Amino acid sequence: MDHRLGFEPVREECTRKRLPVEGDLPDWLAGTLLRNGPGRFRVGNRPLNHWFDGFALLRRFGIRDGAVVYSNRFLRSEAYEHAREHGALGFREFATDPETGPLGRLKRLVSIAFTDNACVDIEVRGEGFVATTESPRAVSFDPETLATRGHHERERLGTTTTVHPHYDARRGETIGYTTRLGRKPGYTLYRIPDGGTEPDVIGGVTIDEPAYLHSFALTENHIVLTEGPFVVSPLDLLGGASVAESFAWKPERGTRFIVFDRESGDVAATHRAKPFFVFHHVNAFERNGEIVLDLVAFPDASVVGALSLDNLRSPSPSLPTGALRRYHLPKGSTRAVERETLYAGHVELPTIDYARRNTRPYRYVYGVSNRKRPPAEFQNRLVKIDVESHTTETWEEPNTYPGEPVFVPALDDAATAGEDEGVILSVVLDAAAERSFLLVLDAASFTERARAVVPHPIPFGFHGQFYRAGERPTRSMA
Ligand SMILES: [Fe+2]
Repeated sequence: MDHRLGFEPVREECTRKRLPVEGDLPDWLAGTLLRNGPGRFRVGNRPLNHWFDGFALLRRFGIRDGAVVYSNRFLRSEAYEHAREHGALGFREFATDPETGPLGRLKRLVSIAFTDNACVDIEVRGEGFVATTESPRAVSFDPETLATRGHHERERLGTTTTVHPHYDARRGETIGYTTRLGRKPGYTLYRIPDGGTEPDVIGGVTIDEPAYLHSFALTENHIVLTEGPFVVSPLDLLGGASVAESFAWKPERGTRFIVFDRESGDVAATHRAKPFFVFHHVNAFERNGEIVLDLVAFPDASVVGALSLDNLRSPSPSLPTGALRRYHLPKGSTRAVERETLYAGHVELPTIDYARRNTRPYRYVYGVSNRKRPPAEFQNRLVKIDVESHTTETWEEPNTYPGEPVFVPALDDAATAGEDEGVILSVVLDAAAERSFLLVLDAASFTERARAVVPHPIPFGFHGQFYRAGERPTRSMA
């Protein structure tokens, strides 16, 4: 078997299964790795079309005193319960809609209610944990048992929202955006102060054809939306096309950086660059009169279609290369935007030492990567990129496919600690052994410290967070 095992469904849930650990786990590593991703890819006899459509399966690794316990549980979203009960989709997923027919189309004409199948990321809202997707309908769950608790209606400020809000620990606030697709389309920025649950609007813009935005950049004084020319036609969306079909690549528009003042919410500048597509920003900071902004750039939006399950399940899926790119946005001048390639790729699911380095100069990016460029198969190695020296280190093993690497710093109060002093946690599919394991790498040397072996394969996930015992959760990535 190969990477295709990572797109096979999970049949059984498991609770607090103690895993055999090989190697030695650091004494200080205590907490919970919570991850999210699809775990089922059919409804009745009907296959779902896209990786983003699969039903959310929460995964939990509890780590304490050198022991690891694993649980997984499907999120009991309305979408999941409807599919289980009726053997048919009840909500619009990203690229699969409920069966068409006169009634279905009519229903969609009057409503663009999206799914609550929150299969992409984990977030903390107030005191509670929620599973998230780009629909504003998040689902809360118990981080110990993974049991679904109920709905958490997020921002009512827009039609879709981001799964990658920023958390600024120094200011004690969460910042995010929503995309408005109805009347007065555009983007709205919001902030939620610590302890609050309701968002305050910071600002926003009106845009004729809003683009698909997956993440954004935050600096000390600015919020930057990177708007690639993958734009939605609200009429198509309202008229019955699937979400995925409602977007079109319009390269003549270029890619725009819309720079907002973080305090006033006003647009401070708009910069234009040659067209590219981005899912994930890595980090951004202000230095020498400019905003330095790092992200994973794709040549165009074909990556969205490439993540269809048909393509991913082929022996050699055709996948475009994501490159780590740095943009220099001049502040207060009309100088052109400059760009440089930090790593020609492939890299995706980038993470940093988020709690200490986000919005600040930094050195290390971790991500999933590929031995070949363009990728000849699914992500098959991990990479650590030094953005100062442009050097890389990699971890790989035959027939294994690692997931998003999450950095966990070694010390609680680590102002003087090295940026890569800590570990990387990644859930790796061992296709030959037909099981997965939690890999623990020493982040500095990028070599294995330990692994905890799960007795079955875990489907590939998207994002997750590590929550240290007794501490306020922080995000691991942008
Ligand atoms: Fe993402």
